[in-house]
Amino acid sequence: MSTVNLPLAERKRLKKKKLTKHHLANILTHWFNAFSWGFLLATGLAPLIKWHESWGLFWGFVITFNVLVGFRRYFMPFGARRMLLDQDDLEWFKQYGRKLAGLSYQLPEQDDYNAGQKAFSYVVILGIITIIITGLIMTFSPQVMRATGGMQWIIQWAMPLHFTAVGLVVAGLVVHIYMGAIFPEERSAFFSMFSGKVDALYAYSHHHKWYKRYIRAEQAWEAQERAKDIEMGVGTAVSDAELDELAGD
Ligand code: HEM
Repeated sequence: MSTVNLPLAERKRLKKKKLTKHHLANILTHWFNAFSWGFLLATGLAPLIKWHESWGLFWGFVITFNVLVGFRRYFMPFGARRMLLDQDDLEWFKQYGRKLAGLSYQLPEQDDYNAGQKAFSYVVILGIITIIITGLIMTFSPQVMRATGGMQWIIQWAMPLHFTAVGLVVAGLVVHIYMGAIFPEERSAFFSMFSGKVDALYAYSHHHKWYKRYIRAEQAWEAQERAKDIEMGVGTAVSDAELDELAGD
C-alpha cells in the first residue's frame, strides 16, 4: 500500500505515531537466538567443539522451553497469523519477482509479516528442529549407540543433516539480515527489534492489513472508554469530525 495518496500532514502524523509490534519476550528471544547463531557458527569447527556443544545444549534448551511454555498462548497464534500463506501472499511472491526483475508491479496488502518473512519462518522452524535433534544425537553419540544397539547409521546421518539445515537457515539469514539491518525501507522494522515499536507510516505502507486491524482495535477501545466517560457524566460531546475518525473515514 503506497503512501503517495496521503497528504503530507497525514504522513507526518503517521510518522510520529508508534505502534507496538514486538513484546519484550519476543525481542529478548530474538537477540539471544541471533547471538547464539553467531557463537555457534564460530565454534562449530573442531578446536572449539566443546564450547559449541555446551552453548548448543543451552540454546536448544532455551528455545524449546520458550516454545513449550508459550505454545498455546504465543506459538499457535504466531503460527496461524505469521506463517499461513493466503491468496495475497501468493500474489506477493509473483509481484515481488516482478519488482526484482525491474518490471512494473503492485504488491498486495500484507499482514504484520509479509510473505517473504512467512517463508523464512518455515526455514527457521524446520531448520532449528533438525539442528537440535541432530545436534543432540552427535553430542550424545555413545549413549545413542548403546540405546539403539549399535545403529551407527543414525549418527552418520546426523552430521550431513545438521550441516544441510544450518546451510539452509544461513542462506535465509543472508537475506533476513540484509533486509533487517541494511535495507533502508525496513529501517523501522530494524529499530522495532529493540524498542518493540514501528512508526504508523511504515505499518501503513508495508503491513497494511495489520495496520487496519491495529487501528480498528484502538478505535474500539477508545469508543468503549468514551462510553464509560459519558456514563459517568464526565464525557464531552463527540464532534462529527471525531465520529468520522472513530469510524475510520
Ligand atoms: C544480526 C542478526 C539479525 C538481525 C539484524 C535481525 C533482524 C530482524 C528484524 C529487523 C526483525 C523484525 C522484522 C519485522 O518486524 O518485520 C526480525 C525478526 C525475526 N528474526 Fe531476525 N535478525 C537477525 C538474526 C536472526 C536469526 C539468527 C534468526 C533465526 C535463525 C532470526 C529470526 C527471526 C524471526 C523468526 C523473526 C520474526 C519473529 C519475531 O517477531 O521475533 N533473526 N529480525
